[in-house]
Amino acid sequence: MDTRPIGVFDSGLGGLTAVRQLRRVLPGEDIVYFGDTGRVPYGSRGRETIIQYARQDIGFLLSKNVKFIVAACGTVSSTYPPAEAAHLPVPFTGVVGAAARCAAAATRTGRIGIIGTQATIRSGSYQALLRQLVPDAQLFAKACPLFVPLVENGYVNDGNPVTKLVIADYLTELRDTGIDTLILGCTHYPLLERLIGEFMGPEVALIDPGKATANALDDALDALELKNDRTAGGSVQFYVSDSTEGFAELETLFLGRYGGGPVEQIAIEQYGWPPAGQNRQGNANG
Ligand code: DGL
Repeated sequence: MDTRPIGVFDSGLGGLTAVRQLRRVLPGEDIVYFGDTGRVPYGSRGRETIIQYARQDIGFLLSKNVKFIVAACGTVSSTYPPAEAAHLPVPFTGVVGAAARCAAAATRTGRIGIIGTQATIRSGSYQALLRQLVPDAQLFAKACPLFVPLVENGYVNDGNPVTKLVIADYLTELRDTGIDTLILGCTHYPLLERLIGEFMGPEVALIDPGKATANALDDALDALELKNDRTAGGSVQFYVSDSTEGFAELETLFLGRYGGGPVEQIAIEQYGWPPAGQNRQGNANG
């Protein structure tokens, strides 16, 4: 039994789609969420910058005494080195593994589409894992960089003409390949699930990385005996790196009926991992 909170982070607010799923699956757990709203998007940045940002995000969550860290960001999950994650002082997961396993279970034909940020698609993270899970898979990947600003600006309502146009532009080729499963490989995209689903058609299964990861985390916390003993009443403490103004409105959009908890702005640049004087394997330098 462990009453410490779960730490969740994303480049912005997309990770709140994972928080929503975590609250559904683990309603008794407390969550500390960090959204790097001052530096979003991560997906169009270079690898070293993304890793540097991830280290700061992780350093901040560790300063909040979390028991588990979830990178609710396809971009960080695809870029942050697993060898480094393995040496963190608490367990760490991204969203790629659980989403890929869900897609492998869902596909009937082995024709799987992956959409995500430029960094996620470029990394080949989903493709590598899916090739192991479904050896004869035919994979079709596409970066959809405009989806994140559309979501962060609230262009997610049914029938939104701008979003429909962008979806058609990005996804027509993918639809024509005849895929039967599509991984929404960025945590912002589940907010477009209905619009994307309408475009792709009912025969295409859409995989929500936040949902897949929340279910996997439930199992992981059990296995590690890290759950707290409550079945309801978990809270969420939000932190962002830009102004908190307007956060409540977007929070409702991402979290649905859950009103959310207090939100605070922090200076993320002052955090980092590992702390000064230690190398990346957690040992003292020298
Ligand atoms: N939510 C992030 C992801 O899952 C995307 C946003 C960004 O580009 O920073 O990749």
